[in-house]
Amino acid sequence: MQEYTSKEVFNQRFMEMNGDPKVKNREIAYDNWLADYEAEIEKCETVIVDLGCGLGNNTYFLIEKGKEVLACDISEVAIETLQKDVPQAKTKLFDMTQKFPIEDNYTDIVIADLCLHYFTKEVTKKMIAEIKRILKPNGLLLFRVNSIHDDNYMLKQSTLDKDFFWEEKQQKSKRVFHEESIKEFFADWKIEKIQEEKMLRYFKEKIVWNCAVRKV
Ligand SMILES: C[S@@+](CC[C@H](N)C(=O)[O-])C[C@H]1O[C@@H](n2cnc3c(N)ncnc32)[C@H](O)[C@@H]1O
Repeated sequence: MQEYTSKEVFNQRFMEMNGDPKVKNREIAYDNWLADYEAEIEKCETVIVDLGCGLGNNTYFLIEKGKEVLACDISEVAIETLQKDVPQAKTKLFDMTQKFPIEDNYTDIVIADLCLHYFTKEVTKKMIAEIKRILKPNGLLLFRVNSIHDDNYMLKQSTLDKDFFWEEKQQKSKRVFHEESIKEFFADWKIEKIQEEKMLRYFKEKIVWNCAVRKV
């Protein structure tokens, strides 16, 4: 068994979204969560890295603000769709569970929206260390992850650690976060915001943590 949802599962999902005119996510739509960080984004002079960019909701927001963006994902379908829809963005196809093909101190801002919550504790820690490596000193990571209070449809499935779940039939993994676990993962960062909130980008309401942490 692998430790996280594979790229084939994501590719399949994005192909379905591409092929279904009724799927509103297919139209690039962001839910404006990054507006909270507008001042920080405005003054950023480096390329901004959008990790797990998917079809480009956040990339599109940043490009609209006149920013340079490196949009990264494991899914070829996501990257190819984004290249067509947001040709101004640079893209990189890679698996975040491995060393990122990005140099040290590359950027002042990393965005990781709804993409850090698929992994075991060990893999999550490894990814956070990689994010730290590519951030400049004092750089900012803005991210959203599943809250423990989200609709935990997978919680009855096999539990690998206290907050990590694997759904065998769909081959999907999910981690849920508590305020304490976020503080633990980012113990050696400066935590600027941990806010639990509802998001409405998908058809169904979702409860997430909206967080800003700074490399120290
Ligand atoms: C729920 S989507 C979020 C997409 C986008 N950030 C957004 O908010 O619209 C999760 C994204 O993470 C990507 N992803 C999942 N596992 C990954 C991995 N190991 N490496 C890189 N990207 C990954 C998926 O392909 C997918 O695009």
